[in-house]
Amino acid sequence: MQSPSYEKAKIRSKSEVLVRKFSLDNSLLEIGLNKKFFLKTYGCQMNEHDSENIKGMLRIMNFSETFDLNEADVIILNTCSIRENAHNKAFGMLGRIKHLKKDKPNLIVAICGCMAQEEGVVNEIRKKYKFVNFVFGTHNLDALPKLLNNSFINAKLNIEVKSIEGDIIEDIPVTRDSMYKAYVNIIYGCDKFCTYCIVPYTRGKQRSRRREDIILEVEKLYADGYQEITLLGQNVNAYGKDLYDDYDLSNLLEDIAKIKIPRIRFITSHPWDFTDSLIEVIKKYDNILKYVHLPVQSGSNRILKLMGRRYTKEKYLELFHKLKTIPGIAITTDIIVGFPSENEEDFADTLDLVKECEFDGAFTFIYSPRENTPASKLKDDTTLEEKETRLYKLNDLINKYSKESNLKMLNNIYSVLVEGESSKEGMLYGYTETNKLVNFKGDLTLVGKIVSVKITDAKSFSLDGELVE
Ligand code: SAH
Ligand code: SF4
Ligand code: F3S
Repeated sequence: MQSPSYEKAKIRSKSEVLVRKFSLDNSLLEIGLNKKFFLKTYGCQMNEHDSENIKGMLRIMNFSETFDLNEADVIILNTCSIRENAHNKAFGMLGRIKHLKKDKPNLIVAICGCMAQEEGVVNEIRKKYKFVNFVFGTHNLDALPKLLNNSFINAKLNIEVKSIEGDIIEDIPVTRDSMYKAYVNIIYGCDKFCTYCIVPYTRGKQRSRRREDIILEVEKLYADGYQEITLLGQNVNAYGKDLYDDYDLSNLLEDIAKIKIPRIRFITSHPWDFTDSLIEVIKKYDNILKYVHLPVQSGSNRILKLMGRRYTKEKYLELFHKLKTIPGIAITTDIIVGFPSENEEDFADTLDLVKECEFDGAFTFIYSPRENTPASKLKDDTTLEEKETRLYKLNDLINKYSKESNLKMLNNIYSVLVEGESSKEGMLYGYTETNKLVNFKGDLTLVGKIVSVKITDAKSFSLDGELVE
């Protein structure tokens, strides 16, 4: 038993990051024979990619996947803590599973992901969800095989969550969701400690993966015919800072671009570490996609300071306009409304910033207090109703600009990576280099290929087009 601790999760020392390799005891290779697992993933791309690793481990232990909860022998919830509703969804699912377990006492239930790293959540599982078999955290994904095996022998709740700064585990098996798009982790954790955010506590210290490990993974993906890779991190721009004196994201991107994989994306960028050399590299290589997700969170300097974002509205705009010098670039953002003490004036500053930037798109959220974060201790006297009104107003503006940016694409031809059949029969869908969703007529042999599509209609959230021979 090892339980998470908020106190320990806060620590950031200069201690070296341990890089270890995944290994599996031969005795566990067949424990999944004739057993099915159901895996539900909440949260961001990092969690989605962790789930690909979870599936990879389960596959080599010979489990097969089911998408029907009732068929499962093992249920794993890979959870997210970012906002209250992510918590509620996972707890709601646990409620459903509780009933299943009554009829099927041998069912194994496991919780992992960011909620597993929260002291408060694990205490709640101990009290109210005793039927859970085991809990493991984001720092020890590779403990899954052993924990699973133990749970077949002893059904009692086992908690194995480390609140450490974080190791790096290489070579965890992976079963990727797509045969042409792949996620590649380049940096784990976060040291920014924005005052509202729980990630630095659930994902540990900011730690870069060794460049040779990343490059090897991308080379393999290229050899396997992957068309697009997305380099992942909570703050990819900080890549290399903890590891090298003279090698940063711009160098890594350049080395990866030379591998000639057709499309390279990277998310998420924090405005703090966005260097000029990074902008130059994005301009220089055609296969580095001209798309940047650059969360601003607020347009009010007073709120940005309270959020601990380390930049002002002016600094953000300076960077934004520099990025706009990259031909054809699309920029999206994240915005939080209703941060403690945000008033109408602060909110008007956010609207002004959106008007100036005319973002291609944005994810907008109502502030959600997270346990143990500094912002959760601030006085918050704005009503939920007011916050919702602000959110609707903001969304109207965001949608207007997103539609306008889509309208500018009308009658032009763009390259689209075809992902699959759309909900309408005979129609395919895919994404442009700037991450815009396009629906168009075509046959299934095109899935996984990059094709040219002429845009014929533009909406707020998608485009229609026709294939160009
Ligand atoms: N690392 C990224 C974002 C990670 S979380 C960055 O710093 O840009 C994704 C988004 O969730 C954030 O950009 C923020 O807008 C939102 N978010 C994070 N914590 C939140 C909270 N407590 N309440 C509401 N939204 C939050
Ligand atoms: Fe959270 Fe800020 Fe880190 Fe992003 S940079 S993960 S918002 S603490
Ligand atoms: Fe959620 Fe954790 Fe990602 S809190 S957004 S799953 S890093």
